[in-house]
Amino acid sequence: MRLLMTGAGGFVGGSVLAQAGPEWEVHAVSRGPALVARANVHWHSLDPLDFASLESAVRAIGPDVILHAAAIADIDFCEAHQNEARRVNVEWTRRMAALAAERGARFVYLSTDNAFDGEHGPYSEEDTPVSANFYGRTKVAGEEIASALDTPWVVARVSIVMGLPLVGAGNSFLSRMLAKWERGEAVGVPPVEIRSPVDVVTLGRALLELAGNAFTGFIHLSGNDILNRCDLVRRIAARLGYPEELVVPNDPTDLPGRAPRPRDVSLLNSKARRVLDTPMLGVDDGLELVLATRRSAS
Ligand SMILES: NC(=O)c1ccc[n+]([C@@H]2O[C@H](COP(=O)([O-])OP(=O)(O)OC[C@H]3O[C@@H](n4cnc5c(N)ncnc54)[C@H](OP(=O)(O)O)[C@@H]3O)[C@@H](O)[C@H]2O)c1
Repeated sequence: MRLLMTGAGGFVGGSVLAQAGPEWEVHAVSRGPALVARANVHWHSLDPLDFASLESAVRAIGPDVILHAAAIADIDFCEAHQNEARRVNVEWTRRMAALAAERGARFVYLSTDNAFDGEHGPYSEEDTPVSANFYGRTKVAGEEIASALDTPWVVARVSIVMGLPLVGAGNSFLSRMLAKWERGEAVGVPPVEIRSPVDVVTLGRALLELAGNAFTGFIHLSGNDILNRCDLVRRIAARLGYPEELVVPNDPTDLPGRAPRPRDVSLLNSKARRVLDTPMLGVDDGLELVLATRRSAS
């Protein structure tokens, strides 16, 4: 199967790339240079916002499945740069969806727990998204584009992603925290924000499964545990051997430039547990899986 993936240089894209077996002919679309050298991975470095070049590249590749993982995923950046966020997160999605429709390709779109405003968590796939921030609103716009397709589509709403990059770098909160802990600096984490973290390895596996199976519709890719971010980070720090003083509860409303964050956007994953062969994990098992995967890759 020929899989075209955008955002290949990112945190989530890296997990998909690292785990895509020989049954996949992967075409990685990225602004950056190739990050993997494997026979089944073809790298396309281009400016994806030059839509004419993007469209001719996608048509030349001729994918069976498009996994649109790219987005500006920085919530504060999106709030402060709304035109840019709209162009990347909405207009680019519209182009990718149109290319999928033109070819009859399966379209897998990554959305976010921030699609919800956090007032009525935990959320199921049947709940109506209303976001608390601009990033979330761009992702909901993407959901609407994907779910209007006549060709098979998936909207995978993803919880906060826990882990370290398997390929490349990108938006890993744990990488940022580890860099601080290594310097002996404490990290501030809001205890008021409730999430259902998913580990990056399980997420990559689930996305590959959704790329290759017949499921259509909304699905929540989240972990089995619902907890506040401070407890989450304390558990990770303890497992990695960092002292608990390096995790400090903070009040996010004090932080200048911080976009509104939803309070409880935990996602119920019963549909994923029913539909997917990939087991969804809790925090401890997810973290062990990430550590073991990185050990076996090094
Ligand atoms: N990480 C999370 O906790 C989380 C949670 C919920 C949902 N998600 C969703 O998961 C998807 C992947 O996120 P991620 O965590 O992997 O984020 P990431 O590490 O920031 O990767 C996103 C990728 O999108 C592309 N991109 C970003 N800004 C761009 C721009 N201005 N112009 C062109 N391309 C741009 C880049 O791909 P290249 O580097 O290849 O050019 C980038 O690496 C996104 O759709 C995000 O909304 C993430």
